[in-house]
Amino acid sequence: MKVLISGCSGFIGFHLSQRLLKDNKYLVLGIDNMNSYYDLKLKKDRLKVLKKYKKFKFIKCDISKLANLEKSFKIFKPQTVINLAAQAGVRYSINNPDQYFDSNILGFYNILKCSKKYKVGHFLFASSSSVYGASNSFPIKENSNTDRPLSFYAATKKSNEVMAYSFSNIYKLPATSLRFFTVYGPFGRPDMSLFLFTNNILKSKKINVFNSGNHVRDFTFVDDVTDAVEKLIRKIPDSNIPYKVYNIGSNRPYTLKNYIKIIGNYLGKIPILNLQSKQLGDVYKTHADVSRLKKTIKFGPPTDLKKGIKSFIDWYLKYYKK
Ligand SMILES: NC(=O)c1ccc[n+]([C@@H]2O[C@H](COP(=O)([O-])OP(=O)(O)OC[C@H]3O[C@@H](n4cnc5c(N)ncnc54)[C@H](O)[C@@H]3O)[C@@H](O)[C@H]2O)c1
Repeated sequence: MKVLISGCSGFIGFHLSQRLLKDNKYLVLGIDNMNSYYDLKLKKDRLKVLKKYKKFKFIKCDISKLANLEKSFKIFKPQTVINLAAQAGVRYSINNPDQYFDSNILGFYNILKCSKKYKVGHFLFASSSSVYGASNSFPIKENSNTDRPLSFYAATKKSNEVMAYSFSNIYKLPATSLRFFTVYGPFGRPDMSLFLFTNNILKSKKINVFNSGNHVRDFTFVDDVTDAVEKLIRKIPDSNIPYKVYNIGSNRPYTLKNYIKIIGNYLGKIPILNLQSKQLGDVYKTHADVSRLKKTIKFGPPTDLKKGIKSFIDWYLKYYKK
């Protein structure tokens, strides 16, 4: 099967591409604009790994530029498209909304348009737990309210869902929204807590802990995510409006305080906390109801958090030669 993965040099895109390539039944065209939102070396190194696979091709391409994007569709003729390319991060969206508009709204529309034009059989895309806003009923189900995004990042993800829904309704494009819950793992993102905390704890530097560490997150190990997405590729929505949404979470929430304790224990160091108030746009708690996912595919039990953190730290120490 021919799969186009956008954002292939990113954290999840890299792991998903590798997961499909290891299976040997997929031909993967990865596209990415290789932007420098975070250390480009990480993206280049991920790409180096992917380029070792014979069934992988890469095209540097920005999804917000339609003509370039369309070339990739024309050459490759993908049967499945998985859109992971986006400007990620809730906090960065406070001062940089333009990047979110370009990649997550215009770019998303372009990839949707190409998927329709080139008759893609299944369009899957990264949404986010942030679409649920300040919910207070947990675990959260897919049919919960998503009308009140707390950040512009969340607003772009909600927009993606409604745009895709309308394409499913009008043009019968089968589409699946993947609502990821705080994904972590080796080769992770340097702007995310696990990376930042590990880096500072190792250097005996203070770590900024927002909401005094009382945030609760449904941390999801990246291999559990890629396993789920690989299985969902074949679950093509086929109802009158061929559109489906799934929570992709672990259903095992932890407080940030406990999370930090596990990282400190594994590094053999006591974290120095700089307790801070809640940040604008932050959601207090995430906790996924994954019963729909379990009903559709064989999913779980999720990777234990301690095991997942160990696997990240092992990678980190090796990568940065600590
Ligand atoms: N990591 C998480 O916890 C998490 C949670 C919820 C949702 N998501 C979503 O999952 C997807 C992947 O996230 P990630 O953590 O791997 O982030 P990432 O930043 O590591 O990966 C995104 C990739 O997309 C590329 N990209 C950005 N804009 C582009 C554009 N206009 N054209 C082409 N490529 C572009 C970037 O260069 C990057 O390599 C994103 O859509 C993100 O919003 C991630």
